[in-house]
Amino acid sequence: MKEQYVLELQHIRKEYPGVIALKDVTLNVKKGEILALIGENGAGKSTLIKTCSGAVIPTSGKIVVNGKEFESMTPQLAAENGIAIIYQEFNNVAELSAAENLFLGRPIKKGFIIDKKAMEREAEKAFQQLNIKINPKTLMKNLTVGYQQMVEIAKAIQQNAKILIMDEPSAPLTSAEVESMFAVVELLREQGVSIIYISHRLEEIYRLSDRIVVLRDGEYIDTLITKNSHVDELIQLMVGRELTETYPPRGDCINPNEVVLEVDKLSGNGDKDISLKIHKGEILGLGGLVGAGRTELAEMIFGSAKKESGTIKFKGNEINPKDPREAIDIGIALVPEDRKRHGALLGSSIKNNINMPIYERISKFSVINSKEEMRVAEKYREDLAIKTPTLQQLVKNLSGGNQQKVILGRWLAANSELVILDEPTRGIDVGAKYEIYKLMNELVEKEGKTILLISSEMEELMGMSDRIIVLAEGKMTGELQKNEFSQNTIMAFASAIEEVKEDEK
Ligand SMILES: Nc1ncnc2c1ncn2[C@@H]1O[C@H](COP(=O)(O)OP(=O)(O)OP(=O)(O)O)[C@@H](O)[C@H]1O
Ligand SMILES: [Mg+2]
Repeated sequence: MKEQYVLELQHIRKEYPGVIALKDVTLNVKKGEILALIGENGAGKSTLIKTCSGAVIPTSGKIVVNGKEFESMTPQLAAENGIAIIYQEFNNVAELSAAENLFLGRPIKKGFIIDKKAMEREAEKAFQQLNIKINPKTLMKNLTVGYQQMVEIAKAIQQNAKILIMDEPSAPLTSAEVESMFAVVELLREQGVSIIYISHRLEEIYRLSDRIVVLRDGEYIDTLITKNSHVDELIQLMVGRELTETYPPRGDCINPNEVVLEVDKLSGNGDKDISLKIHKGEILGLGGLVGAGRTELAEMIFGSAKKESGTIKFKGNEINPKDPREAIDIGIALVPEDRKRHGALLGSSIKNNINMPIYERISKFSVINSKEEMRVAEKYREDLAIKTPTLQQLVKNLSGGNQQKVILGRWLAANSELVILDEPTRGIDVGAKYEIYKLMNELVEKEGKTILLISSEMEELMGMSDRIIVLAEGKMTGELQKNEFSQNTIMAFASAIEEVKEDEK
């Protein structure tokens, strides 16, 4: 008997000017399974799943839902046929409650009047069904990102979604939030919901999925049964070559006599009394849980947030950058964590984005040296493997991971002496991660730069740092030399708030 699939994508093709995002992709989803969708940045994952919601209209191909055939979807058709997508940027309204968001656009009414009580009751039920503890009255803006995502999932389930598609759902979450999200996803599978799960974190894929579909360059490559597959095989299918080392080796290039950055008893922006030194050629890792105050520290150094007290010295001189412009001018760069909000000019080209901080330097009498402009953009396209047909491409048309690479390229192009990288590889595929690590090595080894690396990925932090400083709740809780690196020690410091308070008494 032919197996019944809840969703079949048949021979899906999607063309954009100059790009074939999908070529003849066929895959199917069974009832009550978690199907992982993986592939490098720009492989076509987001484009493919967007065909299921009508956000992308395929050039050709068919979408079959429970045996019903569609040439393309619309948001309404998708909803009617039980398909829901959780995108990375949620569509919620911060000033409304969780319950109101759950019923956004389709409120429960009593006559002409919106029935708040009924919505709260229904929301309560939906949350209970997923085993999540959210007060339906809580305003969305007061919920953590993790809970906001839960509301989105509850909304999908409340609308009777049978196929839930999640595009990199773990990317913005803390590790505890990821665990809760997994629990919900597994519960949904038990309830017979089918899930398509996109992630660059392979350990999640192994933990959650039943089958794995691999895309490469817009093409379907293979489907694997998760429990019978091996991670090396998976990586090879994704990147089309073997990756042997995860972290490229780096020679000793630290100059212990030259302090590039010295922060002394720095307080403000949620941080208290932080003191640290970074030497020339060093990669100093900043560890801690999300919300520990690492980004906040970076912001004060970069002039995008005010300090209250303490001093910041850069190459021996005290600095007080009042805005990022000033920090950039003296040689400090910050590649922000939330690159969409703080970084990319989405409506502008790749070339413009990369050259942005250096236009002054490559111009004479207000005339841009376009050869140099091209050379710089070309260099980072190559170094970071930015997937695009042309450097004139608008950044908004790139895949999520490739947008991140553009912003990273911009700050590397700025040629700053101190480069602060806040979660530089979030949303970046395994192959490109390696390229970024190589570039970081090159910066410190060959170009004599210094790096402050903020990362929540423990492996990356330990793999790339020369030394690690751990923060918790805005305070420094520990410092580890390379021979002391261990996941347990870092975690202990990262959650060591209580012990520190004891010490202070
Ligand atoms: N509106 C658009 N115009 C032009 N090209 C586009 C557009 N949307 C997507 N693309 C291209 O289609 C390809 C696939 O992009 P997609 O966003 O699906 O990748 P992805 O697998 O989700 O990558 P990531 O892991 O980085 O999120 C990319 O080359 C991208 O540049
Ligand atoms: Mg994507």
